[in-house]
Amino acid sequence: MYKDVFSVVNRVHGILETYIAPGDVVVDATAGQGNDTLFLARRVGESGKVWAFDIQEEACAATKAKLAQHQIDWSEVICDNHANLGRYVETPIKAGVFNLGYLPGASHAVVTEGATTLAAVQSMMELLLPGGVIVLVCYLGHRGGQAEYAMIEETLAAAPAQDWCVEEFRFVNKKLAPRVIVVKKSLKED
Ligand SMILES: C[S@@+](CC[C@H](N)C(=O)[O-])C[C@H]1O[C@@H](n2cnc3c(N)ncnc32)[C@H](O)[C@@H]1O
Repeated sequence: MYKDVFSVVNRVHGILETYIAPGDVVVDATAGQGNDTLFLARRVGESGKVWAFDIQEEACAATKAKLAQHQIDWSEVICDNHANLGRYVETPIKAGVFNLGYLPGASHAVVTEGATTLAAVQSMMELLLPGGVIVLVCYLGHRGGQAEYAMIEETLAAAPAQDWCVEEFRFVNKKLAPRVIVVKKSLKED
């Protein structure tokens, strides 16, 4: 199948698929229309599990419908703020993804916000297995997007380098294109 190499989604899925194997437990912090949840669910397979969060009923319903359409029953869709993910996910995770911003086609009044996004990132970092990865797609074009990105970038820039590797991808010739931040937890050597 032809894949648009310029697509941020394909880039992000390409990163995630190098880390995720069948049987892994992973988290989609912003389920939206369920596209990332479906990608993750296919990757972990029926021996794995995807926890998917969204604050909007509409997005949770769309994600559940997408999973049902593909006969996937190894994902749990939680309609709650991702800042609360630690109340639900109790096992270590291999990967997590945040596709920030608002639900395409819905009201822009509901949008991810720096403080709650950071709380969720921090919970996810606590749950992440050594060798695991968190990928964040940060949009700059909407109101509050640049401030959210700046908060995330500033916080992750302070992550101890012996434990965490934090990389960032950006389109040099598209100033407002999304920034992609990749957070990897080191494999500790005893
Ligand atoms: C860009 S969309 C996600 C797209 C999605 N990953 C997909 O594949 O279709 C961002 C989503 O984040 C959700 N969201 C906003 N604030 C949130 C929060 N605090 N907790 C969980 N979800 C949130 C929105 O409702 C929206 O559905």
